[in-house]
Amino acid sequence: MTTDPGKLHSDTVAIRSGRRADGNSLSPVLFPSAVFSAETVEEARTKATSVGSDRFYSRYGNPTVAAFQDAIAELEGAEASRAFASGMGAVSAVVLGLCSSGDHIVAQRQLYAATQLLFQAVCPRFGIDVTFVDGTEPGAFADAVVPGKTTLVFAETPANPKLDVIDLDALGAVAGPVTVVDGTFAPPLIQQPLRHGVDLVLHSATKGIAGHNDATLGVVSGSSELINWLWGFAVLQGAPASPYDALNATRGIRTLPVRLERQASTALAVATALEERDDVVDVRYPGLLSHPQHDLAMKQMSNGGSLISFDLAGGIEAGCRFVESVEIAQLATSLGGPETLVTHPASTTHVNLLPDELAANGIGPGTIRLSVGLEHPEDLIADLSRALDRARS
Ligand SMILES: Cc1ncc(COP(=O)(O)O)c(C=O)c1O
Repeated sequence: MTTDPGKLHSDTVAIRSGRRADGNSLSPVLFPSAVFSAETVEEARTKATSVGSDRFYSRYGNPTVAAFQDAIAELEGAEASRAFASGMGAVSAVVLGLCSSGDHIVAQRQLYAATQLLFQAVCPRFGIDVTFVDGTEPGAFADAVVPGKTTLVFAETPANPKLDVIDLDALGAVAGPVTVVDGTFAPPLIQQPLRHGVDLVLHSATKGIAGHNDATLGVVSGSSELINWLWGFAVLQGAPASPYDALNATRGIRTLPVRLERQASTALAVATALEERDDVVDVRYPGLLSHPQHDLAMKQMSNGGSLISFDLAGGIEAGCRFVESVEIAQLATSLGGPETLVTHPASTTHVNLLPDELAANGIGPGTIRLSVGLEHPEDLIADLSRALDRARS
């Protein structure tokens, strides 16, 4: 090939990446097989013991899943990627695959609730200590590292649901432990944490990467050394990505750049319209000048993304009336797809947190998370305005 893939724009990489098993098929090819045959015992032995083996047994690896992994590695600028059965499959593999009893983790306080619960409820059972820090505080991660004991520093940016933004350069500079970013809210074309010196980046690919609400999938990317280690754990963990979901996600990647661009421009228009209302408070969108870390966000993200959070002055009653009044947007607990979704975190995504934990994460009774889809911005703003009017009456 005459074109150097390293010199291509990421939009082009999204179209060309992950095609190693496709032959001359333009669409990704599905290998549903759970198992692959070998000609000789020696060949079977090699397949059983080769890291990343993708034609032995699909818990070890699968060609359709490998194509998705290749595509993500190219978009992240990573040496390698490993896919899992869900975003939480990826999170738990990183945490439990890299940490042992007696180890210490520094984790951001502002996290997706299931990740927070993994740190609070599961890690202690395995003798792993976790210190939570405010990830927006300069130096907070580095200051909490205990030399010789801290093995992992875990961040999420932008964070779910209040969109706090973490300084990736500062995180990448933390020396010693493995640094990890959950970048679910900012897929690889928006943000590339590895380029800031972070060791691993993971995503719930269920969200923007697959992008059509038809895949449940997670993916971790980084150096071959770390991903190979995680592969060894993943084979025993037994939560590999399904080839069907990987197929849908690779197809989703082809349109990822245009989807992300359109969602971000609509999200900025929606967030601006929300800021103008007197019944809406604390509108959080990284692309808005009023976002507390707007400058940082614009330094490390190519746009503000598709997620907005805001609070309703009328509290929980207004919040519930609002999410039940939308007609174009829908009440559902996910993000990054073509449909605009509204979520009430205190009663869904973060329902298992205690009131003081919700408050520490900035989640109030009237907090709403909005995932902006691909509808026309004017229809969407009109729908949200009507629902807000209903919520205040
Ligand atoms: C930031 C973040 N990380 C991880 C996850 C978990 O992903 P999954 O639902 O695919 O397990 C989610 C799910 O919403 C999320 O928002």
